[in-house]
Amino acid sequence: MFDPWQDALRPMRRIGRLIEAHESIGSTNDRARALLDGAAADGVVVVAEQQTAGRGRRGRTWLSPPGVNLMLSICVQPRLGASDAWQLGLASALAVMAAARAYAPVWLKWPNDVVADDGRKIAGLLVETMADGNRLTGAIVGIGINVNWARAAMPDEIAAGATSLAELAGTPIDRVGLLAGLLEAFEAELSRIEAGDSPIDRYRAACATLGSRVTVRTADAEIVGEATGLDATGSLVVEATNGRHTLASGEVVRVEGAVPA
Ligand code: BTN
Repeated sequence: MFDPWQDALRPMRRIGRLIEAHESIGSTNDRARALLDGAAADGVVVVAEQQTAGRGRRGRTWLSPPGVNLMLSICVQPRLGASDAWQLGLASALAVMAAARAYAPVWLKWPNDVVADDGRKIAGLLVETMADGNRLTGAIVGIGINVNWARAAMPDEIAAGATSLAELAGTPIDRVGLLAGLLEAFEAELSRIEAGDSPIDRYRAACATLGSRVTVRTADAEIVGEATGLDATGSLVVEATNGRHTLASGEVVRVEGAVPA
């Protein structure tokens, strides 16, 4: 059967050496995990036109109509220690940003959203890792990009804080070409971190969250203050009235000057 996604295949390379395409699946991340649990799956990509149980960060659902966006998971067996697993999220976000920048100006919102100038979300990442002691045995890099989804067609709660690459570019985007660019950018970022080149400076330079007044929701608190920097392991540093907070995880729910998340 004709499968347009195979045009993004990279047979001689590591990432994208095999693309498994689905018309409909529960979650590409779950399928990627099953692949990693079985045979050597490093570099295998799972892409779907539709997910019936797409997952977002912090237990949320990832919603996308069929056939307009890009939803994929990359199986990786990273040559990284478990204590460096945080680098994979930042490197993956940098790769998505680089691929999207072929079409429109986009930036990063901590920890790994890709956003437009006004803060509207274009893409989100759900990175899941498996470790055995300090050995990272596998990682699933799940990526959802709003590509050709018209804002007018988005449910109100999504349209309030999101947009799509086509909206920004003012023209429909070839999703297969975007996937090809993304796989290339991802392989380049992965090689860099595996060679010991931390993504932190590249990430800082692209992170729209830094220097802004933000509200960050963590598991047990909501912190309001100025996002002044990232520490050496990618944690967000927020100066609040009650002192400095260094946050390893959380959700930036508001950035002053941007639309609400
Ligand atoms: C977020 O911003 O909350 C992360 C969204 C990640 C969504 C992608 S879509 C492909 C992959 N499969 C999933 O179930 N989730 C990720």
